[in-house]
Amino acid sequence: MAEALNATQPTPKQEAGERGERLWARSMIAIIGLLLAMIVYTSVHWGRHPPSRLETIDSMSLHKGGEFSEPNLGTSIAPDGSAVVRVVAQQYAFVPSCVLVPAGVPVTMRLASADVVHGFLIQDTNVNAMIVPGYVTTVRTTFAESGERLMPCHEFCGIGHQAMWAHVRVVDARQFPFDQAKGKAVNCAG
Ligand code: CUA
Repeated sequence: MAEALNATQPTPKQEAGERGERLWARSMIAIIGLLLAMIVYTSVHWGRHPPSRLETIDSMSLHKGGEFSEPNLGTSIAPDGSAVVRVVAQQYAFVPSCVLVPAGVPVTMRLASADVVHGFLIQDTNVNAMIVPGYVTTVRTTFAESGERLMPCHEFCGIGHQAMWAHVRVVDARQFPFDQAKGKAVNCAG
């Protein structure tokens, strides 16, 4: 009762409570500041950014023709030497399951989902994006060195999610097997 009567003077208990609240507020501001700083740092230093374009596609009819039909899946080389990779993500595989790309040239990856939301990242690169049905995911990168890289699905997409993997094989650009005359997209299998 003594506490209630003396309402103008904060009791030691109230003071402690206010100190606690101030500490809490400062900690939260510091954490938000740290997270924002991390976003700025990774964006600038590692080139991480949200997908830059909004392009829609009918996921239900990918197999019926158009850009993501079977013969177009894989890697094509444009006349300027840059590469375009087209991949379909579906439960529970990427098509093609082994992506062949030339080293040292700009690569544009275009992915579409045939069913649910998938994700993909390529080991040791800044490539990391979601593949949302109804949209084309476009990511640009350059693979500096030859070698094998893993490309797992990193978005839970169903019971077989953990088995959804692809490989990226980076090879010498001079030995890249794309035939401009035929124009057929290639993958590790040929
Ligand atoms: Cu596709 Cu997880």
